[in-house]
Amino acid sequence: KNKNKVSWVCSDCGWSDGQWWGYCRECKCVGTMREFKEVVVDNGGKTSGFQVSEKIVQGWLGKGAGENVPMRLTDVNKGVNPLNWRFPLSGLFGEEVSRVLGGGLVPGSLVLVGGDPGVGKSTLMLQIASIIAEGKEIGKSAPVLYVSGEESVEQIGNRADRMDISTDELFLYSSTDIEDILEKAQVLSPRALIVDSIQTVHLMGVTGSAGGIYQVKECTAALLRFAKKTNVPVFLIGHVTKSGDIAGPRVLEHIVDAVLYMEVGTLFCLGEQYSSHRLLRAFKNRFGSTDELGVFEMSPCGLKAVMNPSEIFMSEKHSDSEFLAGSAIAVIMDGSRTFVIEIQALCAPGSSLSRQVNGVQAGKADMIISVLMKQAGLKLQSNAIFLSVVGGATLSETAGDLAVAAAICSRHFPIPKHVAFIGEIDLGGELRMVPKMEKRVSTVAKLGYKKCIVPKLAEKVLQGLDFGDLEVLGCNNLKEVINTVP
Ligand code: TYD
Ligand code: MG
Repeated sequence: KNKNKVSWVCSDCGWSDGQWWGYCRECKCVGTMREFKEVVVDNGGKTSGFQVSEKIVQGWLGKGAGENVPMRLTDVNKGVNPLNWRFPLSGLFGEEVSRVLGGGLVPGSLVLVGGDPGVGKSTLMLQIASIIAEGKEIGKSAPVLYVSGEESVEQIGNRADRMDISTDELFLYSSTDIEDILEKAQVLSPRALIVDSIQTVHLMGVTGSAGGIYQVKECTAALLRFAKKTNVPVFLIGHVTKSGDIAGPRVLEHIVDAVLYMEVGTLFCLGEQYSSHRLLRAFKNRFGSTDELGVFEMSPCGLKAVMNPSEIFMSEKHSDSEFLAGSAIAVIMDGSRTFVIEIQALCAPGSSLSRQVNGVQAGKADMIISVLMKQAGLKLQSNAIFLSVVGGATLSETAGDLAVAAAICSRHFPIPKHVAFIGEIDLGGELRMVPKMEKRVSTVAKLGYKKCIVPKLAEKVLQGLDFGDLEVLGCNNLKEVINTVP
């Protein structure tokens, strides 16, 4: 009689398991379990080796997994909890990606990486996949599976060649069937799984075509169960369309553990030239802060971390001048995300007082100009004033008041390039607090600005927080701002 016994052996600690769990239940390592098949033949002689078994554990495909039972709090986190450990990612990216993830990749986490088509998600994930596979930080490589439903393995291979990625342990697979993907993942027992993209995969037996709302939700739920059960971290790429497509990643934000959005770095307010920068932001993170922001530079061979974003300012087009004439930097919020935008002002003397505003409410502009004349003594009476928000954004928050005022003043009092302005202005020319000061200021700091002008009261809120080299200056009113900035 023939009897084939399959076991899974941890290549790290040697622990052997009768079932594949995705991780080693002894040493809690992910990506170390290797299938070991013992072939027992008639003559009693044994041959054994690493072979692929046909039997696949599919527990995560079905919904009600029966073996989970309520656990006593005091029994949770006993011993080595895999969740206390994070996989460090550095390589090309320094600490950028690790930081955005909240200090490393958490085993068993499902991370959604969203962004507009063409922004560079596939490129970034291929690079991250190779870094995880190499595992330089822990001195040990392990398989990582990159699955694409959009590109063939040859296409991904070509891209990897262009980017000079030649990691032994990086496995490419082209499939759109979640069941198939998870089966292949099990055979490989990877350290991480990347699925590109959620819009292209489908699950048998679920209504609708790939990209439809049911498919997107069910596929994500299956990947979540897979991640939780096996401890294999899963990255899920998702396209966000400008119109906020309902079947897009937006509906997934609450299912996954973390949402990272990748976007073009228009933050540097410098127009076309700087569209070669990419930002990676944590929009949601169950394992870390959502204030984190990574800055990358695009190159023909992939993304590179910009460790010190202030260097970007140095290389900027008007690097001959230390001052921004006629413009100022504001920090605004969109939902929980912070944006740095540039506000431009042009005061043409000689003509009667006329105003042309773009992206700033006309009434708001009038008020700020009047306050500047009345409370700060600026002589703007016989000026035509033009205001514009660079990039066509609309300034709807009072937090931008101070930057509007500063832009108008900057003809008279030049503003150094590394200064950002946050604050509301009242009719008396006093600066008022705005919400989320801490978040705004930390964005400014991360983007490499040197100085940030805030309302005096905000100093208290910001006290004791670490903003690196950023100098945070509190001012009571517009006059103080004018005296402080240059
Ligand atoms: P891609 O990663 O395919 O974008 P997405 O997956 O978000 O749709 O990148 C789009 C194009 O940009 C692709 O042709 C490769 C190119 N690219 C570079 O040349 N260098 C880079 O650093 C990045 C990020 C992209
Ligand atoms: Mg892509």
